[in-house]
Amino acid sequence: MNILDIIEKKKVKSELSTDEINYFVDGFTKGSIPDYQMSALLMAILLNGMTDRETFDMTNAMLHSGDIVNMSHIQGIVVDKHSTGGIGDSTTLALAPILACCGVYVAKMSGRGLGFTGGTIDKLESIPNFDTALSENEFFDVVNKVGCAVIGQTGNLAPADKKIYALRDVTGTVNSIPLICSSVMSKKLASGADTILLDVKYGSGAFMPTPQSALELAQKMVTIGTLAGKRIGALITDMQQPLSDHVGNSLEIIGIIEVLKGAKNRLYNEIKEVAIRLLALTGKYDVKTAEVAFDEAISSGKALNKFAEMVQAQHGDASYILDPSKFEIGKKVEVKADKSGYVTGMTAADIGRAVTHMGGGRMQKTDVIDFSVGVVMKVAIGSCVKKGDVLCQVYHNGKGLDEAVNLIKGAIEIGADKPAEHKIAYAYVDKNGTTLY
Ligand code: URA
Repeated sequence: MNILDIIEKKKVKSELSTDEINYFVDGFTKGSIPDYQMSALLMAILLNGMTDRETFDMTNAMLHSGDIVNMSHIQGIVVDKHSTGGIGDSTTLALAPILACCGVYVAKMSGRGLGFTGGTIDKLESIPNFDTALSENEFFDVVNKVGCAVIGQTGNLAPADKKIYALRDVTGTVNSIPLICSSVMSKKLASGADTILLDVKYGSGAFMPTPQSALELAQKMVTIGTLAGKRIGALITDMQQPLSDHVGNSLEIIGIIEVLKGAKNRLYNEIKEVAIRLLALTGKYDVKTAEVAFDEAISSGKALNKFAEMVQAQHGDASYILDPSKFEIGKKVEVKADKSGYVTGMTAADIGRAVTHMGGGRMQKTDVIDFSVGVVMKVAIGSCVKKGDVLCQVYHNGKGLDEAVNLIKGAIEIGADKPAEHKIAYAYVDKNGTTLY
């Protein structure tokens, strides 16, 4: 077998065998296949696609390139949720304690932010002393005791994906459905949960521009997860505007505390939809009983207390959860509407970029984050505004303020006509098929 024959085969749209897929994933990860040949193959895959069988084999080869987390240390159903990323997407932080209150376990490994998207781990580290690097034993102990824990990715999960993703990033081969699918699913399967809910975003702040393209990706990922023996479903959700009104690290924790106290906003609606679908996937609940359990977790105050319990178990200062006014926030500047009309659209990615410019995100992996900066949105798509109304509050410490304000002004479109209603979810997919909302 040799790599040239494999490139030639994909170039003419032939199906690659399992052995050929194992050969190039293994060869590239170990360094025997050079970047230029792998780039040619990735471009052929982007242009000519892969069958479900090929995508499954590629996922499997990447999954087995590193460690697989053994969740047998946890005595119960372990659930996981994965978002394809976005702006103000802090759902994991509320979901973990809510789901723990509903009797399932959340042992979550999350990432840091890079570029315009935020990362769950950075948000948690804005809570003083919160430890996102627990040892594996301590991690499992917290999950068994509290019901949930969130740490940074440990060990050597899917190293093939790390290498292939870095090459895709610089060769124009990111936006291929089989390549995104094998990248996401190899990491999800390596992190060991029994039941997985994927939150596939579409819109200006997401990888997939349209609901239809996000649905196609979701269907492929559900097929691969089902073939791997998991209970898996996917929601296709809107990322045309920030999900939370709060964007920025400490600010997003404050936004989550509001949801756990019962605030009924867009973030709450999305968290509820994800939680109900995930609980129903476990088989422990149906959609109706899942909704009752969700409502009870919030209205009883148990979910907020569970969040504080998780923070304390991970060595964080839980008094910040009970009294969020303790979070240090930057100086406030207001961005106002320069004309009257309706908010007709937003470039969510530019709001994320604005926060990064002020120091709330990283341009380079080594950048140090300013947790206290961010944006609080006062309008959403469909809001009616008058000239001079506040569109959002910007919290800053001087750095990058002018650029941030310009980006935000350009990101919020105001027009004369009221836009169509923006639903949180477009569709749900599981092994039984697709339900449109
Ligand atoms: N997220 C991933 O982990 N991989 C991709 O290819 C795209 C988004």
